[in-house]
Amino acid sequence: MSLLYFKATNFRVYEEADLHLHPQYNLIYGDNASGKTSLLEAIGCLGRGRSFRGANTKELVKHGASDFLLFGKTSTQQKHDKLGFTNGVGGLGLSVNGDQKGGLESLARALPLQVIDPNIHSLVAGPPEERRRYLDWVVFHVEPSYLNLWRDYRRSLKQRNLLLKNNSSSNELKSWNKSLAKLGESINTLRSAVFEILEPSITQITSSLLGGEVSFLYERGWPDDFHLEQVLIKNETRDLFLKSTQAGPHRADISIAFDTRIAKKQVSRGQQKLLACAMILAAVEIVQEYTEQPLLLLLDDPAAELDSKSIKKLMKEVVSLSSQVIATSINPDKSLFPEQPNVFHVEHGVIKNIL
Ligand SMILES: Nc1ncnc2c1ncn2[C@@H]1O[C@H](COP(=O)(O)OP(=O)(O)O)[C@@H](O)[C@H]1O
Ligand SMILES: [Mg+2]
Repeated sequence: MSLLYFKATNFRVYEEADLHLHPQYNLIYGDNASGKTSLLEAIGCLGRGRSFRGANTKELVKHGASDFLLFGKTSTQQKHDKLGFTNGVGGLGLSVNGDQKGGLESLARALPLQVIDPNIHSLVAGPPEERRRYLDWVVFHVEPSYLNLWRDYRRSLKQRNLLLKNNSSSNELKSWNKSLAKLGESINTLRSAVFEILEPSITQITSSLLGGEVSFLYERGWPDDFHLEQVLIKNETRDLFLKSTQAGPHRADISIAFDTRIAKKQVSRGQQKLLACAMILAAVEIVQEYTEQPLLLLLDDPAAELDSKSIKKLMKEVVSLSSQVIATSINPDKSLFPEQPNVFHVEHGVIKNIL
């Protein structure tokens, strides 16, 4: 899949931005605060329905406007898709080829993308939720039934937590324990199968980027050697006291160690960044293999905080994936790419294609 055309209206600094993209390499350069990240954020928003900077809708809509509007045309060997997404005072709306009922899932399938931005180290150093979301993104693309399973689990978890808040009896909790545990076990089965495929790839890319001994361990969210139902029953008193379910796949994590140090706390930010990049690139590699199409990779200022050797190694790994790449930089430094990219210059929210 390649994003060949993109247009944003009333998004952040842009009144209107419109660009024809190269199916392989694209470089957007401009001074600080010219609108580089905002443009990637807009493209990311079309594929994910939300900002990768965690911004809310009000922040995304251009000051003085009421709604933002995004539009894109993608192309694969088999088909062409037209995607639209809008949000603001008029509420959220989306469409894929005119169909407005597919939900955010339809955008995510039509424009699968990953982002590496200056905050990427938080995938390693941040809360477990980020690593769960990372793993779930791969499972979502590899296993079509996953989303419904995950939704059913969230619903059951909410119900059980409600019972815990109401100090319900063991008898009342019993039936929820059973259904929650069944869904939780299924989620874990899919996650661990995907992690098994993912892990060798992360390890291999990490060793190219960083060298050293690295270990990635999937933790499912409850102790080994026990069924989840057993754990839910055993922990009932504690769950009732804390008024929420303490064990289950909503507590899963990936523990990461680098040269026997805990990556979350004991390695440098630059190393965390490269570990996180390896995780993202491995995820892209696996999803590309399964979907048999290249994905879109958004690289926001990849040179930030990385030395020139590391950035070269990172770009070598990126290029080897054959994904479509849109990178930003403050310099028009085309040497990041092995061949001529499409180059865009951004100035105060105005984009010029300078190629
Ligand atoms: N909702 C908004 N409306 C108008 N301008 C905005 C909005 N949100 C952010 N901006 C402005 O957009 C500019 C570009 O930001 P950004 O894309 O982060 O720049 P860059 O990545 O090029 O450094 C900033 O000057 C910022 O103040
Ligand atoms: Mg920026």
